[in-house]
Amino acid sequence: MTLMLNNPQPREAPAAEPQKLNAAARFEALQARGTEFLGTELAILGGAMSWVSERHLVAAISNAGGFGVIACGAMPPALLEAEIAATQALTDKPFGVNLITMHPQLDDLVQVCLRAKVSHIVLAGGIPPGPALRAVKDGGAKLIAFAPALVMAQRLVKTGADALIIEGSEAGGHIGPVSLNVLAQEILPHIREIPVFVAGGLGRGEAILSYLEMGASGAQLGTRFAASAESIAHPNFKNAFIKARARDAVASIQLDENFPVIPVRGLANPGTRNFLVYQKEILAKFQAGELDKTEAQLAIEHFWAGALRRAVIEGDVEGGSVMAGQSVGMVTAIQPVAEILQELKAQAIAALMARGNQFVDRPASSLSASPLSAGTARAQGF
Ligand SMILES: Cc1cc2nc3c(=O)[nH]c(=O)nc-3n(C[C@H](O)[C@H](O)[C@H](O)COP(=O)(O)O)c2cc1C
Repeated sequence: MTLMLNNPQPREAPAAEPQKLNAAARFEALQARGTEFLGTELAILGGAMSWVSERHLVAAISNAGGFGVIACGAMPPALLEAEIAATQALTDKPFGVNLITMHPQLDDLVQVCLRAKVSHIVLAGGIPPGPALRAVKDGGAKLIAFAPALVMAQRLVKTGADALIIEGSEAGGHIGPVSLNVLAQEILPHIREIPVFVAGGLGRGEAILSYLEMGASGAQLGTRFAASAESIAHPNFKNAFIKARARDAVASIQLDENFPVIPVRGLANPGTRNFLVYQKEILAKFQAGELDKTEAQLAIEHFWAGALRRAVIEGDVEGGSVMAGQSVGMVTAIQPVAEILQELKAQAIAALMARGNQFVDRPASSLSASPLSAGTARAQGF
């Protein structure tokens, strides 16, 4: 006893402790729908990234309390089967598989996931086709789909999606035209039936917290995990992330309205500059009658073939496609996945703590005593 009194354990200031517990409880409540849906401690998905989201990164994210997602990309069914089995050998925690809807063997890939008892399947790259959607549901897996606008979100709810991801144009990889800020305002207030996860440009816990408070059930991050210690991405790829600022992660540029370019966000490099020169050359050949429209379009589409693999696996960050979100500006070091997740959580809780007791739920009747009371509002001319 005397020994204990003489050696007090270092403790936080007494007042801070209940406040921290309060903030932590509030954070848990905000992310509860997401954690319940995913079966995790944190409602944070590691967004599928082709070539990056393989067994090691996926297992690391799930083992650290998040939700890892395997990127199937262009894998044939046998390879996906092996990747799922290898991931299951590294974690007994839940993880998902992301399938691209235009994959020619989509139905077989769904069956591979179902046979392996994958709990959550993400259908990306377009509106999920009916047969794949039904197969996922009938097979007992949860279906997660991307909603690029409110009407699509409502249609997906009706057709049986179990959760949605809304991904803003700040994200890395293939992107839509609308920012997360706007998508969240358009969609979150109207979709209450199923959980909605937000993605694109998220790098800190305060931002995740604000979307949870707007009604999101959790968040999906890609860029920060691509540069993590467990990511198999080449050191050149990770170092490019550390050096880059938000403004370096640019969307691909289309030179002619008749020749569409799929918008992809990645780091500006000689490859992205060469792409503009190349488009000009192809357009000149088309105008000179040396290529017909289909040949010209195909030539433009083929420019980036294999380019992500070259960057991620071979480390060609000059000519390859260094897909990255604007959140790349918040990648400042190569960190273990567990550290990234804990940092995000701690930032969210610290933000709640910084508000003192304001975040504690209050009865509606107390709201009239808010700083902008009726009197203040009148005085300010509202
Ligand atoms: C290198 C890279 C590859 C990606 N590949 C895919 C993919 O294959 N399928 C997919 O649905 N999303 C893909 N994404 C998007 C991520 O899953 C995630 O939604 C996005 O990275 C979130 O935005 P953030 O990068 O700002 O965190 C990719 C993103 C990156 C950075």
